[in-house]
Amino acid sequence: MYPQNNNEMNNEYVNNEAEAPVYAAEENYAADEVTEGAPEAEKDNILVCDGLVKIYKTDDVEVLALQGLELEIERGELVAIIGKSGSGKSTLLNMIGGLEKPTAGRLYVDGNDLFAMSEKGLVEYRRKSVGFVWQNSGQNLFPYFTALQNVEAPLYFDHMSQKERRAKAMGLLKMIGIDHRANSYPAQMSGGEQQRVAIAVALAHDPKILLADEPTGAVDSKTSNMIQDIFRKINEEIGITIIIVTHDLSLANKVSRVIMISDGKISTEKIMKEKYRQQLDNMTTESLAAVESHEEYSILDKARRVQISQDALDMAGIDSNKVRVEVKDGKIIISK
Ligand SMILES: Nc1ncnc2c1ncn2[C@@H]1O[C@H](COP(=O)(O)OP(=O)(O)OP(=O)(O)O)[C@@H](O)[C@H]1O
Ligand SMILES: [Mg+2]
Repeated sequence: MYPQNNNEMNNEYVNNEAEAPVYAAEENYAADEVTEGAPEAEKDNILVCDGLVKIYKTDDVEVLALQGLELEIERGELVAIIGKSGSGKSTLLNMIGGLEKPTAGRLYVDGNDLFAMSEKGLVEYRRKSVGFVWQNSGQNLFPYFTALQNVEAPLYFDHMSQKERRAKAMGLLKMIGIDHRANSYPAQMSGGEQQRVAIAVALAHDPKILLADEPTGAVDSKTSNMIQDIFRKINEEIGITIIIVTHDLSLANKVSRVIMISDGKISTEKIMKEKYRQQLDNMTTESLAAVESHEEYSILDKARRVQISQDALDMAGIDSNKVRVEVKDGKIIISK
């Protein structure tokens, strides 16, 4: 069982990177030009991850993919998840999609404990509440269906007439700006076009959450920009919550909240500056790159720990696991 509170803390789960238990200095949170979330009590969280742990066992080897991950996402947010290869991004996304069960911890969607649901409830959740877009467009589309038929496919089990189904599928293709390819088969479309159809497919059953794992991983930068803009547009227009795992920093720069996972835990979050957000629609990719977009925060977990990056430790000359922690002028100073 994963330790639920500080007193039960077991060293097995403590990250190898230097972690110092520090208390939040108020100044850290006083950046007023940053778009802050609503105060705790007013938050409308669509997703809450509470101490998620995932251990994969293969033969004799155990891999700790998630190490007590805590995360809250508000309804209507557009969030990017970044992190090194193997840090646990896909594991987290698959868990949110109900495809992967945690070894310990809980995951609440709309206040419901996802993995306390019956198997039938979980199947219904996967079919109705979440939409997936994968990196490889071949994973998203049926090759022998046209774009339109692909978008209609998830609607076959709904009580809809053929005409209604067609109208809805066509409406989605229009919204994504790919309706001119309605009668094309996947093999006749470019990677970017296929990904756009895949977004329409994922939206067909009106999911509450859209999950995308490296959706721009296999397309060029121009197409990637176009796909990014589609995610922003559908987030704004239909208010759907979107979580995108990406290696693509140009995508990460365009979303209001960027969550960094390292070693199976959230380590830092970047929140978009309000000034930057206001300018976003009128700027080119080049001019965007020149402006600092986000304010970066370290995450203080429930057990009051923060992760400190190896770079920061190196810069501070900290090379052992013992550090001094002192409070000076209302600030916490960690030193050798
Ligand atoms: N089915 C599995 N069986 C065993 N180990 C797994 C399995 N899936 C993932 N892992 C391991 O769990 C860890 C996290 O994997 P995950 O796929 O979540 O990483 P990721 O952040 O998505 O990486 P990438 O950026 O390369 O896609 C890795 O060490 C990986 O090898
Ligand atoms: Mg992955």
